[in-house]
Amino acid sequence: MEYPNFVLHGDICYSQTKHSLATAENSFLVCAAGKSAGVFSHLPPEYKLFPCIDYTGKLIIPGLVDLHMHAPQFAFRSLGMDLELLDWLETRAFPEEAKYQDRSYALRAYTTLVEDLQQGPNTRICLFGTVHVPATLLLMDLLENSGLVCMVGKVNMDRNSPDTLREQDAASAAASTQEWLEQCTPYQHCKPILTPRFIPSCTDELMRRLSAIQQHYGLPLQSHLSENLREIAWVKELCPESSCYGDAYTRFDLFGGGVPTIMAHCVYSGDEEIALMQSRGVYVAHCPQSNMNLSSGIAPARRYLEAGLAMGLGSDVAGGVHTSIFRAMSDAIGVSKLRQCRGAGDEAPLTLEEVFYLGTQGGGSFFGQVGSFEAGYEFDALVMEDPHPVPPFPLTLRERLERVLWCSDERAILKKYVRGIPLPRSIGTDPFPPAL
Ligand code: GUN
Ligand code: FE
Repeated sequence: MEYPNFVLHGDICYSQTKHSLATAENSFLVCAAGKSAGVFSHLPPEYKLFPCIDYTGKLIIPGLVDLHMHAPQFAFRSLGMDLELLDWLETRAFPEEAKYQDRSYALRAYTTLVEDLQQGPNTRICLFGTVHVPATLLLMDLLENSGLVCMVGKVNMDRNSPDTLREQDAASAAASTQEWLEQCTPYQHCKPILTPRFIPSCTDELMRRLSAIQQHYGLPLQSHLSENLREIAWVKELCPESSCYGDAYTRFDLFGGGVPTIMAHCVYSGDEEIALMQSRGVYVAHCPQSNMNLSSGIAPARRYLEAGLAMGLGSDVAGGVHTSIFRAMSDAIGVSKLRQCRGAGDEAPLTLEEVFYLGTQGGGSFFGQVGSFEAGYEFDALVMEDPHPVPPFPLTLRERLERVLWCSDERAILKKYVRGIPLPRSIGTDPFPPAL
């Protein structure tokens, strides 16, 4: 595919470090062959022949990154929010996921999800599917056509789940994961990611087989870690020989090291687990809305930032209700304040700069050079209107970004680019027409 060359003119914001923001009013953002060539106050002569799209007065920011969501849970989001994790899985999530055995149900439900994602601000997403190979491939087809860049996992689970959803045994779970992987090869934008659901739903035998598959295919991995106190106690019972929850994955070589790995939640990771994540480069997907809705607790995001852990944000739909990572950004600020006033007095609340970093460059780095406009980054961009009604006083560019983060919805998104390609906002439109 040919990636285009062009220039956007407008008011540009992007993260410079995890604590600081670059703001450039009335400036030029250059896309050369699908990558940022940088932000300039005056357009350098070598780009004068590129077409320039005039977004004067509009905000231009990197596309947002969701490091953790469950595609089959989109349909029932907002239902069952009176439950905690294990009861919620049993009564809400597992029965709903069992329905994806029916391909026509999956088509209806996943179509509504992908339409929502096309309307929203996220440009890169890591998703769990279900245990079903046909439904997971169908989800990947829909996402591939949307132009969003995604990693999707067929879920593995061979214990502690209902007969309607549990895979028969480790051998058949691994065989169907392999069957799925063999059919993933045609995708350009949608790549597979190995997905053991979490320790309680995977036998040791399945974990051993997944480790062999991981090595054979060189796959990244996503799972859950230290989300809820009952869950953690259960993992202790299931894996008495493990020194912490993270160690239960490490024993199978499925916890970072050479394996690019995302662990969702990490609400209760202690010193040993934090050190393990840090030394093995494991990403934390911080999912503040889910932490609230499932009464899990509040992940110590400030500690993780200070420890230098790799970290991004996740919607965790349907633990979270909203797919937009703007919502995860504002919730991350909110819960960090609650954490501070609930006793973690030494943990300063997260700032606008920090949550913006987490939702763009922090999570984006899992996909490579993604989530910033510094030269060389893949060109994922959102062009945004200031959310209405605009206040009757002047605003700095940082304040305008702050309003976008707290007040905007999909109506404020004028344009969305991924790798320099403008994306359609509804399903069925080819994002890659022959002549761009
Ligand atoms: N742990 C295992 N499965 C799930 C899930 O579907 N959602 C959440 N939030 N945590 C999990
Ligand atoms: Fe989750």
